[in-house]
Amino acid sequence: MLLEVRDLCISYGDIRAVAGIGFALEKGELVSIIGANGAGKTSILGGIMGMVPINRGSIHFKGKAIHRMPSFERARTGIRLVPERARIFPRLSVHENLMTGAYGMRRKIDVGGRVAWLHELFPILKERGGQPASTLSGGEQQQLAIARALISNPDLLLVDEVSMGLMPKLVDQVFEVLSRLNREHGLTILLVEQNAMASLEISHRAYVLETGSCVYDGNAADLLNDPQLKAAYLGGR
Ligand SMILES: Nc1ncnc2c1ncn2[C@@H]1O[C@H](COP(=O)(O)OP(=O)(O)O)[C@@H](O)[C@H]1O
Ligand SMILES: [Mg+2]
Repeated sequence: MLLEVRDLCISYGDIRAVAGIGFALEKGELVSIIGANGAGKTSILGGIMGMVPINRGSIHFKGKAIHRMPSFERARTGIRLVPERARIFPRLSVHENLMTGAYGMRRKIDVGGRVAWLHELFPILKERGGQPASTLSGGEQQQLAIARALISNPDLLLVDEVSMGLMPKLVDQVFEVLSRLNREHGLTILLVEQNAMASLEISHRAYVLETGSCVYDGNAADLLNDPQLKAAYLGGR
């Protein structure tokens, strides 16, 4: 297993956000955690990255326990997060934003080569390289956030609600890029999403999260194609 999370519990004071979640990803998989607003998705990713303290549980990456490491060290092991709402730096240029993803990396990366590859993947980032990032549209900012996370050549990409606030056409485009990164470049991806349909379309497996607990896990295709499962777990979504 590339990532193995066991019995993860996260609370904010009296609020129990994550109530003993376990899941795992193999290298090369694209897996979704689907859940409504407030289900605990962002907390899980924050727990993995070390941005949110965990109350219980363990997180292993490449066989090593990482749950006691500070956040920057976890990133150095090869995990990167595309945060909710992109969180780009609006006053920095598009290119400067991109380069922030390369800071502090311990392993040698061919930054020039990575930038060239990312420009090919997201041409808008080359075209608008010198402009303030605030001038990008929502969908373009999401592309920038994905590119920034990819520049360090991570082994695992965590993606938090990349579809939020995007028009359906743009959602499809961004998901298609993630699917390609997985299929053609072997990138392992964990998506957390409210948009169940779009994320299941590109996922191998999925976990359904309800108020901090996993209520279903299985093949994405089964969830998409079985009307009973769909009604039970994706009702209204
Ligand atoms: N910093 C925080 N302080 C207090 N409660 C929080 C905090 N962050 C999240 N929560 C609560 O934890 C629960 C899970 O939130 P979150 O992980 O953001 O869910 P999701 O990403 O699925 O919308 C919610 O009830 C939310 O209100
Ligand atoms: Mg969230």
